[in-house]
Amino acid sequence: MSDEGSAAAWMMLGRTDLRVPRLGLGVMVWGDMAAAPRWNPARNAYGPTSSVDEQREALEISLAAGVNLLDTAAMYGKGASERRVGELTESKDVLIATKFPAGFFSRAASLPATLEASLARLRRPVVDLYQIHFPSRWMSIPTLMNLMADAVEAGKVRAVGVSNYSAAQLRTAHAALSRRGIPLASNQVQYSLLHRQPERNGVLDTCRELGVTLIAYMPLASGALTGKYTAANRPAGWRRYSSVYRGNGLATLERVNATLRDLAAQHDKTPSQVALRWLVQRHVLPIPGAKTGPQAADNAAALSFVLAESEMDALNTASS
Ligand SMILES: NC(=O)c1ccc[n+]([C@@H]2O[C@H](COP(=O)([O-])OP(=O)(O)OC[C@H]3O[C@@H](n4cnc5c(N)ncnc54)[C@H](OP(=O)(O)O)[C@@H]3O)[C@@H](O)[C@H]2O)c1
Repeated sequence: MSDEGSAAAWMMLGRTDLRVPRLGLGVMVWGDMAAAPRWNPARNAYGPTSSVDEQREALEISLAAGVNLLDTAAMYGKGASERRVGELTESKDVLIATKFPAGFFSRAASLPATLEASLARLRRPVVDLYQIHFPSRWMSIPTLMNLMADAVEAGKVRAVGVSNYSAAQLRTAHAALSRRGIPLASNQVQYSLLHRQPERNGVLDTCRELGVTLIAYMPLASGALTGKYTAANRPAGWRRYSSVYRGNGLATLERVNATLRDLAAQHDKTPSQVALRWLVQRHVLPIPGAKTGPQAADNAAALSFVLAESEMDALNTASS
């Protein structure tokens, strides 16, 4: 986690020995969603998903660009995303991040069995980064961290992360894992030019203080920061009802997208690449979702240029 403007393509994940690219690949909507429940967000939030061939191409292009970290979860399509990852990555040199639990009302005690089921779908003996998907009133954080530590000691998990944790929850998880001599690798939270809460709620500062990598999900604000959607041309799926396409949200979107377009033109890049680069230079690890090869190629190229400090400032101002 070094050098503000560096174009270096790699970083260490938190204080672990896991070397990861500075940008990953989110695969929430990959897989055969037909068997997933109707309410499952991975099935409904983004409209129709892409074909297995498009997803294979997205993977191959990402790997060729050095983007070998894939983020999935047991919940995505009720295992459909993990199953597709297993099918496409078997015997490939990739890093897989996945998440527990499999359902909203799961109990901590189900972690070992859920991990085994994920490993089977992923067709691997070990998960590189195993994350607790969200805090839950039914699951104590120290209990979860002890189960995670057991999984590390059993050789089934390389690094432990959390997701959607507040600053206080992060400290609890970090302390519990420390007692077992294991670093907390990451906290995956929503973070983009349109969602800067981690800067205000203490999560980003706490990650920095504890040496935990912040993984930024929805880094393109579900596609809004690509510049291709407007209030009159909203995207498919539940995301079309997002507040970014209404009122103050829309005014901010238009202001940010105008700045992204200007900077993209100056660097001969796309607005998406500039939006992702802003995150990379804030020392966080964005995991944009890509449905197709061209989207994966576009996103990976965010690693191959540098924004000047004045350009970072312009984006900070437009999005504040
Ligand atoms: N931990 C959590 O609670 C949590 C929550 C949400 C997501 N996540 C993770 O974060 C990952 C990324 O988030 P996300 O997929 O929700 O949002 P995102 O990365 O902000 O947006 C992804 C969508 O934007 C469009 N897109 C992506 N790259 C593009 C490009 N270069 N040009 C044009 N369009 C492009 C695609 O949809 P269209 O082409 O249809 O517009 C794609 O599905 C997920 O896959 C998942 O792994 C985690």
